[in-house]
Amino acid sequence: MRVCHLSLTDFRSYPSAEIALDPGVTAFVGPNGHGKTNLVEAIGYVATQSSHRVATDAPLVRHGAERAIVRALVVRDERRALIELEINPGRANRARVNRSPVARPREALGLLRTVLFAPEDLALVKGDPSERRRFLDDLLVARAPRFAGVRADYDRVLKQRNTLLRTAAATRQGRRRGARRQEDDAAFASAGAGDVLSTLDVWDSHLVRHGAELLAARMDLVEALRPLTAKAYATLAPASAAADLEYRTGVKLSTDCGRSREILEEALRASLAEARQAELERGVTLVGPHRDDLHLALGELPARGYASHGESWSFALALRLAAYDLLRADGGDPVLILDDVFAELDGHRRTRLAEIVAPAEQVLITAAVPDDVPAELAGARFDVTEGSATRVR
Ligand SMILES: Nc1ncnc2c1ncn2[C@@H]1O[C@H](COP(=O)(O)OP(=O)(O)O)[C@@H](O)[C@H]1O
Ligand SMILES: [Mg+2]
Repeated sequence: MRVCHLSLTDFRSYPSAEIALDPGVTAFVGPNGHGKTNLVEAIGYVATQSSHRVATDAPLVRHGAERAIVRALVVRDERRALIELEINPGRANRARVNRSPVARPREALGLLRTVLFAPEDLALVKGDPSERRRFLDDLLVARAPRFAGVRADYDRVLKQRNTLLRTAAATRQGRRRGARRQEDDAAFASAGAGDVLSTLDVWDSHLVRHGAELLAARMDLVEALRPLTAKAYATLAPASAAADLEYRTGVKLSTDCGRSREILEEALRASLAEARQAELERGVTLVGPHRDDLHLALGELPARGYASHGESWSFALALRLAAYDLLRADGGDPVLILDDVFAELDGHRRTRLAEIVAPAEQVLITAAVPDDVPAELAGARFDVTEGSATRVR
């Protein structure tokens, strides 16, 4: 798969840009701050409808503009798809595929698949669990776009359940204070609390349904990633201890019952029941996929907090390479994007990474200076200066 044309309107620093892309390697080279990452970020956005740099859409729209438009013409097995995304911060985004509007932007997911490597990936190893959950969920969506819906449903239910729990916690505190002053208030408040509990049961069943689906998919995904990550890590850091992954969940799972959806639903339901008292006290949902983590280990030690800078980099790259292998095995080479990564790597890792990515159908690289692009990855080149990209090779 490859992008053969990218067109931007008011995206980041670009009032407009038209960029024709060839198969194979293309490097965007230019001084820092001149707009290289903005270009590849736009391509990543078409694939995932999110940015690898920011959590919200607002910074993607050019300062002073109302909306941004990103268009990508994607070719896969000789078939073309034109994907157009209109980014409207604070309002619903819109998408068109082959010039026809789709009901929801997420229907345009899956037409372009990318694997993006960036300095921000170090957070996969050093950062909070939310970074690793996002890595897993983004990969789930890339492999099967319907997971965008599962994730959105889970997040929505979680938010509503948390609102209810917060109300319940506040009511309880009010009741305790009230009870001290006036016994009658307690009776009034407890009638309200009964409503809360029955509403909570309804939210529990939704949370269990979507949560178990997410949990099952993440656990399967981690099993698929384990050997691929270990292999990629061993290639990048042959002298280091072996890399391993483990999905860690607060949901209590018995070891011998398997991992079917039904079993996970039961387990999540039971864990929620167990946590309910504490949840009512604290006003927040304490178990479920939103609290889980992907544990990364190097030999006996956790990578987080123990791995050296070089090992952390290798682990982050290994996770991305494993994702690339999985997507490729599903069918169709994803577009590889390497944003400013070669400058960060030592000679060995640079060469290994270059060798691994060189055969991909399309590789897009950003670098501050031409020397940061490894010789194995010679190809087309754009100079990016002062917010415009000019093809020079
Ligand atoms: N929403 C925006 N509106 C206008 N300019 C922006 C916006 N977001 C980022 N920029 C500008 O884009 C530039 C950074 O571009 P970037 O692609 O990250 O540079 P690099 O070439 O180092 O990768 C900065 O000068 C920044 O001010
Ligand atoms: Mg950059």
